[in-house]
Amino acid sequence: DKGNHRHFMEKEIHEQPEVVSHALAHYVDLGNHTVDPAATGLIDFASLRGLAISACGTAYLSGLIGKYWFERYARLPVEIDVASEFRYREIPLSADQAALFISQSGETADTLASLRYCHSAGLKIGAIVNVKESTIARESDAIFPILAGPEIGVASTKAFTCQLTVLASLAIAAGRARGTISEAEEKQLIKSLAEMPRLMNAVLNAIEPQIEALARELSRYKDVLYLGRGTSYPLAMEGALKLKEISYIHAEGYAAGELKHGPIALIDENMPVIVIAPHDRFFEKTVSNMQEVAARGGKIIFVTDEKGAAASKLPTMATITLPTVAEIVSPMIYSLPIQLLAYHTAVFMGTDVDQPRNLAKSVTVE
Ligand code: F6R
Repeated sequence: DKGNHRHFMEKEIHEQPEVVSHALAHYVDLGNHTVDPAATGLIDFASLRGLAISACGTAYLSGLIGKYWFERYARLPVEIDVASEFRYREIPLSADQAALFISQSGETADTLASLRYCHSAGLKIGAIVNVKESTIARESDAIFPILAGPEIGVASTKAFTCQLTVLASLAIAAGRARGTISEAEEKQLIKSLAEMPRLMNAVLNAIEPQIEALARELSRYKDVLYLGRGTSYPLAMEGALKLKEISYIHAEGYAAGELKHGPIALIDENMPVIVIAPHDRFFEKTVSNMQEVAARGGKIIFVTDEKGAAASKLPTMATITLPTVAEIVSPMIYSLPIQLLAYHTAVFMGTDVDQPRNLAKSVTVE
């Protein structure tokens, strides 16, 4: 049931404040601002030498953001790849590593094959899944449900932000178990995560009219580039994936620093560049990449916060200004303009948003 929404995708985008709060409540103690040991302790992070993560599509991109978190907060090296490559790379694995598989459906064939590969190498297997009765969940030692509720739209939205919520909670738990973050830091991070549902609501209410108008403009272009640095880099790739799969506009996500190593040759007035840049420790560097775009007549859509909007004087096609948020929640908050922009562009172009051509919700062939 779509309720009063035109598409499941629209409904699922708007459900995010509620579902991320369910996910969060499962993994953290919101009264004491600590991780919940019962939910997060299924993997013994303290004793691990490394973590392997494997998934496909949007689930892979959530894993890529998870890698930044595990490495930063838990000093735990993460090996990550798309499942269709992971299983063929003959990665040296050992039993002092654990493996995490991320899958909304829990049935993705390549992800399942990677899981079996890791299982035979003797690794402890954790699954971050939406469907708890799925094959991937069944073949895992530890199940971490994302609690997003059924996701019907083929383009993944709420599953992505719930996967991120689970990964953030696990990275904090791993940091505590490994002694790489203090009790005070844990409290601060969880307080920041607790703000997420309220912030998501505020952002959804604030930006949608602006995004709708912008989508109308974006629908006139054939190619779009997304740039980001740090955890905004996987988000840039997620933005490009979302746009191409439902609007059929060609889009690519790049690490902002890679711009000058190739893609800058594409910049002209016919290719909008969407720059995802909260005012974080990467901001200045990303703005200098943005400058390179502006200097070549590129049209910029700047997704930033109040501080970032005030700090940059570059001309833009549009600036989407979000509230200033803690670094750990920015991928979840910045997902919203990214999803809405893809959604409204597709609606404006009249494509089948919930059932885009050539795509299936669950990919059970390799
Ligand atoms: C993109 C999308 C796909 C899936 C991918 C993995 O919006 O939905 O890229 O993320 O097919 O599916 P699951 O998570 O079910 O393994």
